[in-house]
Amino acid sequence: MKFITRFFLTHYTFFLCFALLAIACSSKHSHSRMDRKVDSLLSLMTIEEKIGQLNLPSAGYFKTGEAANSDIGKKIEQGKVGGLFNIKGVTNVREMQKIAVEKSRLKIPLLFGMDVIHGYETVFPIPLGLSCSWDMDLVQRSARMAATEASADGINWAYSPMVDIARDARWGRIAEGSGEDPYLGSRIAEAMVKGYQGNDLSANNTIMACVKHYALYGAAEAGRDYNTTDMSHLRMYNEYFPPYKAAIDAGVGSVMASFNEIDGIPATANKWLMTDVLRKQWGFNGLLVSDYTGVSEMVQHGIGDLLTVSARALDAGIDMDMVSEGFLTTLANSLKEGKITEQQINEACKRILQAKYKLGLLDDPYRYCHEERAKTEIFTAANRAFSRSVAAQSFVLLKNKNNLLPLKKQGTIALIGPLADAVENVTGTWSVAANFSQSITLKNGLEKATAGKAKILYAKGSNLYEDAYLEENATPFGKTLHRDKRSAGELRDEALRVAKQADVIVAALGESAEMTGEASSRSDISIPDTQTELLKSLLQTGKPVVLVLFNGRPMTLKWENENVPAILDVWFGGSEAGDAIADVLLGDVNPSGKLTTTFPQNIGQVPMYYAQKNTGRPMGKWFEKFRSGYLDVSNDPVYPFGFGLSYSQFEYSDIRLSKTEMTPSDSIIVSVDVANKSQRDGSEVVQLYLHDVVGSVTRPVKELKGFQKMMIKAGETKTVSFTLRNQDLSFYRYDLSLGSEPGKFEVFVGSDSYHVKQASFELK
Ligand code: BGC
Repeated sequence: MKFITRFFLTHYTFFLCFALLAIACSSKHSHSRMDRKVDSLLSLMTIEEKIGQLNLPSAGYFKTGEAANSDIGKKIEQGKVGGLFNIKGVTNVREMQKIAVEKSRLKIPLLFGMDVIHGYETVFPIPLGLSCSWDMDLVQRSARMAATEASADGINWAYSPMVDIARDARWGRIAEGSGEDPYLGSRIAEAMVKGYQGNDLSANNTIMACVKHYALYGAAEAGRDYNTTDMSHLRMYNEYFPPYKAAIDAGVGSVMASFNEIDGIPATANKWLMTDVLRKQWGFNGLLVSDYTGVSEMVQHGIGDLLTVSARALDAGIDMDMVSEGFLTTLANSLKEGKITEQQINEACKRILQAKYKLGLLDDPYRYCHEERAKTEIFTAANRAFSRSVAAQSFVLLKNKNNLLPLKKQGTIALIGPLADAVENVTGTWSVAANFSQSITLKNGLEKATAGKAKILYAKGSNLYEDAYLEENATPFGKTLHRDKRSAGELRDEALRVAKQADVIVAALGESAEMTGEASSRSDISIPDTQTELLKSLLQTGKPVVLVLFNGRPMTLKWENENVPAILDVWFGGSEAGDAIADVLLGDVNPSGKLTTTFPQNIGQVPMYYAQKNTGRPMGKWFEKFRSGYLDVSNDPVYPFGFGLSYSQFEYSDIRLSKTEMTPSDSIIVSVDVANKSQRDGSEVVQLYLHDVVGSVTRPVKELKGFQKMMIKAGETKTVSFTLRNQDLSFYRYDLSLGSEPGKFEVFVGSDSYHVKQASFELK
């Protein structure tokens, strides 16, 4: 026996060493093959051709700034383009690629990028909604499917995931990320990167991901888009950097710089951020691209003319210039003037060529151009069915008095509201590849699901806003709500006539798709007045009212929470949203989403987030003189982070700890029993939070450190266990070193960040 063990151990060690050596050699081999190929290309290139690779124009119809692009075909021929984005359709992509590989001197293929943010033609819920599923497998599979569709249409580079932590609900781009929490945001960042990139970037159905917007873009002052951010490095490292770093650790191929300034220097020219942190501390060696006109906008920021800012961006570490043409038109002169070195241009060009190599484009420029795939792999019935199931997982049931929901498939249902049949708005912001006309509205979904059983009566009830100008601002890019010319009174009267014939009213209200997204900040995050007036009239009928809320951000719903019996938050659920909402409203799917942002009572509480600091005068629930808080509002949110109801009822036992003391090399197991006390099977997201009671720097009152989503059958009890290790107790200290500190920790487990069981242990 001893002999066998020894034989096994010695041979096992031998085989292990051999295997590791083989892996090292093969990756070295493939690296050296890449280096040889890229270096030999570089050696053939003129300085103009190298600079040309750093240029990323937009081919497209979709502009977010003052792009400097013209004559793209000619520029490709002249070797002045490294990649193109916003081009849709595999034949269009092939045509452009053909110019690059047949007409340019060195025949270097182009990268083809796109904002594949939450799906391609099959659209998934907006990222904020998707995050509410707390289901990492689902998130990864949705990115995988988006990559499959996009790559079938010629795209090989997605400008996603967007992982900016956002705690200010005024900021419109809160819709594009995963909410307020760095831990959850990091898990989602990893899942998205794995989904897009798969295990082999050169496979024709995987694409390069681009984590954005590095960094701190979500911390814009006053929630006003593009605005200044200013924060301590301690906060950056502990609260805002983790999701970017998680994407880097997951192997993301590219990073996009943010628009905002950091420490007084726009991110695009911030060498500390791009080189010291990203490249040196985190070891990122992929492609670093500016955001749209991120380079030329630095002239407006006030740090120099186009030549100066372009040189500063390259010097900071940016490889590719998106649409400014600052690199293309000024770097040669900067080189002559000694502002930059040829080595810096070589480095940037090399990273772009390496990306092309990794995607397999240097071997086969048409790797992603298979017309047959475009016909068979995009917007398929299977993909749409998956999107429908994902959407249903993203909805959050905020209120359900007396179990009004689910509705019965019988009688008459009045469906009322400007979002009920707004087909162009169903997919939400940043769905640039979607074909709006094919989306399923709530009206379509409800009618299909109740056909032959219940009667659906519909009325629009109100416009989005009473003020036509505000509605116009909120409905760009063809995402119209088909404004009704009738007065608010006429629309409401019609809605009330319809409502009176019904047994129950479903009010589809909230924001239009483009009330969130880029440059869609709001100073008032309530449901627009004209819709609230409609809602009040509907409630006055005395009929039961279900509010189906469309939104891309946390909203102020204090009045709604007090007065409306049932509220289902459906975000923008993607192309199949209408079917998915019907699934949940009618009980075919049991809701399980949980909020990933705090919903405040009023705008004055913003920014509001659960992982706050205690301060020296901690707030209580109500106003107390000389304590942190407000005179005119309690300190509670309307809905806390992590909150969401189900048609099932779950009960938590007290926490059990495997021990009450641990050392840094140890771990503690935290367990609770969760019982489903209802008659319905349902899924629950069990959340674990920690509070480091004493630290060398102040620590948040609670921080999410784990979660598990699980199905619990009716009447069943499941035990949920989490293992806490030293890394979960670690944080960045004042000197930015990462580590844990001995002392007391409180541990919380519950169904959201407020409703928790508590225990404590000691780190020795
Ligand atoms: C946005 C990016 C986007 C880029 C390309 C910019 O305006 O900030 O998120 O990827 O445009 O469309």
